[in-house]
Amino acid sequence: MQTDFLVIGSGIAGLTYALKISERYPEKKVVVITKTQADETNTKYAQGGVAGVWDEDKDSFDKHIEDTLIAGDGLCNLQAVEIVVKEGPERIREIIEYGTRFDKDAAGDYELGREGGHSEHRILHHKDVTGKEIERALLEKATNTPNIEVINHCFVVDLITQHHLGYLVTKSTLDITCYGVYVLNQRNQQIEKIVANTTLLATGGCGQAYRTTTNPRIATGDGVAMVYRAKGRIENMEFIQFHPTALYEPGVSPSFLITEAVRGDGGILRNKDGEAFMERYDERKDLAPRDIVARAIDSEMKRTGTEHVYLDCRHMGQEKFVHHFPNIYEKCLSLGIDVMLHMIPVAPAAHYSCGGIKTDEWARTSIRHLYACGECASTGLHGANRLASNSLLEAMVYGHRAYLHIVEQLEYNGGLPDVKPEADIPDWNASGTTDPREMILITQSLKELQQVMSDYVGIVRNDVRLQRAMKRMDLLYEETEQLYETTKVSPQLCELRNLITVGYLIVKGAQFRKESRGLHYNTDHPEKSSLLQNTIL
Ligand code: FAD
Ligand code: SIN
Repeated sequence: MQTDFLVIGSGIAGLTYALKISERYPEKKVVVITKTQADETNTKYAQGGVAGVWDEDKDSFDKHIEDTLIAGDGLCNLQAVEIVVKEGPERIREIIEYGTRFDKDAAGDYELGREGGHSEHRILHHKDVTGKEIERALLEKATNTPNIEVINHCFVVDLITQHHLGYLVTKSTLDITCYGVYVLNQRNQQIEKIVANTTLLATGGCGQAYRTTTNPRIATGDGVAMVYRAKGRIENMEFIQFHPTALYEPGVSPSFLITEAVRGDGGILRNKDGEAFMERYDERKDLAPRDIVARAIDSEMKRTGTEHVYLDCRHMGQEKFVHHFPNIYEKCLSLGIDVMLHMIPVAPAAHYSCGGIKTDEWARTSIRHLYACGECASTGLHGANRLASNSLLEAMVYGHRAYLHIVEQLEYNGGLPDVKPEADIPDWNASGTTDPREMILITQSLKELQQVMSDYVGIVRNDVRLQRAMKRMDLLYEETEQLYETTKVSPQLCELRNLITVGYLIVKGAQFRKESRGLHYNTDHPEKSSLLQNTIL
């Protein structure tokens, strides 16, 4: 297959870009690839909402910028922060025009929520299921756009670069070019090639590298791993954000999130003795930035020998709670937890990848013809710790910027150079591979990886733990590569391989960073270094 515009991912990032580029060029084809159902994305599970300066009487760009910089703990790129904060409200207006419904108060004004690290109420939301509403609106519009083709159950295995044409590509090759992707078409189990003039990666996060995560099964860091294999640049992978309050339900994966907006509305964290312990950790108490709250919970759990703490909502008023958080209310009730009578057991869970594929202000990666946006990208917005509800905003802003850059290339800079014709690109070589003898080997390795990452590369790290993680990762890598070379490709095997790469990048980044900053806390290096550095791998 050959297409003008190829989009990998049907979450907020991929769809924002696809809708814009398809509207601008109705005569050209836009192909959106998604590995399971189109709506099965991290986007769909977003709860709290989208941050944006909305009420200019009380709020301002400066305040949102300041909050983002404080959360990012010195590592944010100021240009990226200004871009996202200032362009964000316009992008929010667009998705409202596309049909997204945010909650309004009785006067018809948008209800603005507040979350950790925000100095003002500025989070637009749809109950506690904001992501589901956004995904619905964008997908509905994409499905009704004649020149967008959404292909479900199509797994991207690798980017096609010069490497596949027989040229040697090393990390010092300057002109690595992306010609499209190899995909595993899950309907016929064949590996096919899709050749494209431009490819946009919007493959989302990698929470599945950990045993406990809020991320759905699809979040396996595929885009990051593909770019790393293609010798592109990856940045700051050590900054994995743990959400402080995932519902504690042993053995259940992914974990159900209890949105930070609950604390924004007055929810209080308590330890097993009923103490509101956040007072001891930060003057902002329950609404301190996430890295601080997650570390405080981790410390309380270790100190008291428990596997969770509690979120107390009993004082919040049933009507108000049910109005804002109907989904959480029902979920808790289904487990026998009446939040007006009982406290909710919660524990931190891997939630968001602040680093990723390094991109510039136009969402360009270090590989030609390849753009990236959304959670898989590292734009510099989040620095060492993302401010809550900034990621949906970032995904829209950079989806739009990728679109603008491509329009500029096409209309003012003599067009995009055509990529190789399909015929020049070799078919996938599956010789020497057989059906897997035991799929269980893949599942077991995945469990091992998740265990290693959770035990040694979690909220609090040290040098010995990181060294142990790397050793175990080496073995998993070796075994999985052997499997990959001899077995027919399957999504499960590719995801395992990608998660091992992502795990390696997280550990490597953590080992390079000899300091504690934002989400990376190493007890052997508890201070911040005076040198501000991004980790580029
Ligand atoms: P996603 O929405 O994850 O989409 C990824 C897409 O890539 C999917 O379509 C997937 O199929 C496709 N894909 C991946 N790999 C492949 C492959 N190999 N082949 C083919 N397709 C592939 N952020 C906020 O700002 N506010 C919130 O309130 C909020 N709440 C959250 C709550 C939860 C429970 C979670 C998990 C996250 C939350 N976040 C929130 C974070 C935010 O939802 C995500 O960062 C954002 O939605 C990511 O969007 P995306 O478009 O980059 O990726
Ligand atoms: C939440 O609702 O607490 C998640 C918000 C986010 O991850 O930005």
